[in-house]
Amino acid sequence: MENKAVQSAEVPENTGQSDQRAEEKELRGQNGQMPGEQESKLQDTAVLSSAKEVSDVSGSNVLQQTGGASGSSEEKTTAGTGRGEGFAEEINPFDYPGTERVRIRHLEMKHISQEDIDRVLQLTGQLEDFEILMMYYDCALAEVRTKLEVLNREVGLKKNRNPFESIKSRLKKPVSIYEKLKHRRIPFSVVNIEKYLTDVAGLRVICSFIDDIYSIRDSLAAQDDVRIIQEKDYIAHPKPNGYRSLHLILEVPIYLMQEKKYMKVELQFRTIAMDFWASVEHKMKYKREIRNAESIVEELHYSADLINQLDRRMLQIRDRIELNEEGDRVMSEWR
Ligand code: GTP
Ligand code: MG
Repeated sequence: MENKAVQSAEVPENTGQSDQRAEEKELRGQNGQMPGEQESKLQDTAVLSSAKEVSDVSGSNVLQQTGGASGSSEEKTTAGTGRGEGFAEEINPFDYPGTERVRIRHLEMKHISQEDIDRVLQLTGQLEDFEILMMYYDCALAEVRTKLEVLNREVGLKKNRNPFESIKSRLKKPVSIYEKLKHRRIPFSVVNIEKYLTDVAGLRVICSFIDDIYSIRDSLAAQDDVRIIQEKDYIAHPKPNGYRSLHLILEVPIYLMQEKKYMKVELQFRTIAMDFWASVEHKMKYKREIRNAESIVEELHYSADLINQLDRRMLQIRDRIELNEEGDRVMSEWR
């Protein structure tokens, strides 16, 4: 139980903006500058400059049913090198010889592709570190998935029903990582990915019932090697658009040859109904041009409330069924 920092980040009417402002303030530090801001100005465009970072997850990434990244380059896992010293400090792009610097600048200008990312990582000597970092995240996903599966099986046996409908996991794609850092005006480097992003490794757990979400959360929080470093309870405090889910950022250890390394993993818990809503809403969010947007937003909000009522009714129905089962058990023992 040591080192457990359960920060219940209250999310009153959360628009995400206050979080972002606080985060930006923190990033800016004493000189009021965002990391890499100076380099970015010098280079016209932001991101590719210094060290080692990567970027965002969000809806753009396809969640995978299996633990870990498949197919994408994030999944290319190198066998552990056993290097325990961590990743090199930030790289100044101006340390690179002229032609490489020009190539990197050229890449900054256009819509970045996976090949561009690989090229940049190669040019900045971060390719191996990047692959190692992604392997660490992939291992952290496997650790958390195993923890969840253990709980699912235990509850399954004890309560005669599984709390989870499904668990999906994904590693953020390098392009999304890049874009997220760029959006936050943080230089793209391996060091910065690990330092500033909390959602490179993500799991989404779909439950049938709301109370299972909280009991699984409590069980995880009670585990000695799990640190909950952030909690956003969008179930108790839905987003203004009606979005509901419980979001946790965990730190879990992975055991390497020479060290124990804590990695951040984002966990999202929702009910089946909340997931249904989020997937429909997500479609709307990422449509560029949308007619009658206002009425759709309104309708979505109304539907989110209906879904909430439905979730609560399903809970009552389940309790009544379980009460019946319990009654039958007592009766049969008594006979
Ligand atoms: P991101 O930059 O998107 O990671 O936002 P954040 O760091 O403020 O995190 P937050 O915990 O609010 O949201 C993280 C993730 O939850 C998103 O990437 C989405 O997958 C999901 N999410 C959050 N808000 C919404 C929403 O309004 N609609 C849907 N469909 N998904 C959401
Ligand atoms: Mg996030």
